[in-house]
Amino acid sequence: MRAFISFIVASTFFALSPLALAEAGSDESTKTGTPPPPALSHSHTEAAGHATPANAADPAKFYMGAAHNMRDKRIPLGLSPEMKHHQLTNMRAHMAAIQSITGLLADKKFEKAAKVAHSQLGLTEEMKQMCGMFENEDFKQLGLAFHNSGNELGKALQTKNMKKSLRALNKTIGYCVQCHEKFRQ
Ligand code: HEC
Repeated sequence: MRAFISFIVASTFFALSPLALAEAGSDESTKTGTPPPPALSHSHTEAAGHATPANAADPAKFYMGAAHNMRDKRIPLGLSPEMKHHQLTNMRAHMAAIQSITGLLADKKFEKAAKVAHSQLGLTEEMKQMCGMFENEDFKQLGLAFHNSGNELGKALQTKNMKKSLRALNKTIGYCVQCHEKFRQ
């Protein structure tokens, strides 16, 4: 009898978890006005199906992990492992370029900063090639617009006008923000 009761309790827990998760997902989609894509709905059941006794012992932890995936509404690029690695390497170089440019700007070393902007963020042959490898057309266009803004940043820095330079830098960083909000690997 006791075993039977624990069975009922356990199965109620497992039966309720996917429901609770699905409900959290639909709340989110009402807020943003977009229904969750099919791939995400599928991951609800998958996450619930993979619930282990360890997860069950800490429902809060289990819930947070699953919710994190569900709420990631960014468009996946579906990259190969090589492309993923290559992209992230490039991204870290972009980050380093931004750091270098802000430091040089603080020291009013405009010429040096312009060189970094042109060579690291501008639309070089290498970057053109890299952007051309992506299948997602919107991503490709955003990447090219970003690198064009890198060229514009270089030009603004060459004027040695701090305000113009900061405005241009702000625009370039705006592309980083915009793309990261929209896409994931
Ligand atoms: C056209 C799109 C696009 C632009 C523009 C872009 N990124 Fe990214 N970046 C990505 C994507 C996609 C990822 C992978 C994110 C993910 O899968 O969660 C990424 C990841 C990163 C990462 C993580 C690297 C790692 O090793 O994990 C850093 C840092 C980064 N970007 C910095 C930048 C900076 C700085 C800029 C602007 C100067 C920038 N990115 C512009 C698309 C872009």
